[in-house]
Amino acid sequence: MKKIYFGTNLKMYKGNTDVVKYLSELSDFYNTFRSKYEIELFVIPSYTTLKDAVETVKIKMGTQTIKVGAQNMNPNENGQFTGEISPLMLKELGVKLVMIGHSERRHIMKETDQEENEKVLSSLQHQFITLLCIGETLEQKNYDISDEVLRTQLKIGLYGVNIEQLPLLRIAYEPVWAIGTNGVPATAEYANEKHAVIKQCLFELFGEEGNKIPILYGGSVNPSNSDELISQSYIDGLFVGRSAWDALNFHSLITNALKKAEDAEK
Ligand code: PGA
Repeated sequence: MKKIYFGTNLKMYKGNTDVVKYLSELSDFYNTFRSKYEIELFVIPSYTTLKDAVETVKIKMGTQTIKVGAQNMNPNENGQFTGEISPLMLKELGVKLVMIGHSERRHIMKETDQEENEKVLSSLQHQFITLLCIGETLEQKNYDISDEVLRTQLKIGLYGVNIEQLPLLRIAYEPVWAIGTNGVPATAEYANEKHAVIKQCLFELFGEEGNKIPILYGGSVNPSNSDELISQSYIDGLFVGRSAWDALNFHSLITNALKKAEDAEK
């Protein structure tokens, strides 16, 4: 069965009380999704909320049907890394997914491709679903080197990953110029074109198995562009920020996108 992916990164916006409320509403909605597709839904809140986030989903749904993810992770299991959070600490809480290399971490915290690579390897080794975020800046797009940038981020970020680990890997393509309040969403056509570049690079790295790695689009996804984005041939899912932070809005965005994906296939 074809699988469609939806996720949201809550950035530094919701504290514990808000995350519990949000996830309990989203869990109620989740039970109403009807689709011929399998859905993978994940929510990535702040570290301080993870314990209660995992518990909330478990209480509401029995299992962790909505996957709770962490926004970052130190690659080491323990050590002299004050202020950091290790894979073992996330495991202990029942976290299922780790996001690596979000544009804000690359550009505000100055994380490098090599650092993202260490985190990717550690995250996969610890059996987390691993969401590697990549994307070009506006300057790189204007120099017409977007494809080269994406290929570099993939080739360094995924260096040393084994074919057996690929079922845990997800890629989010988020052009930096499309993200956040000042972002301009990519057109569906542009996004699809870049997803094709990413797919091709994953094929070069991993052969046929590389073609199965899901690629989500993110960057100002909203109710007026989500349907068109999800209908594109190389877009396997949507990674949503602001338009997902109200559970009802996220629910209707997903419901509409699923319907659109079904219609597009007919
Ligand atoms: P946005 O955020 O949808 O609010 O642009 C996307 C992201 O940063 O992942």
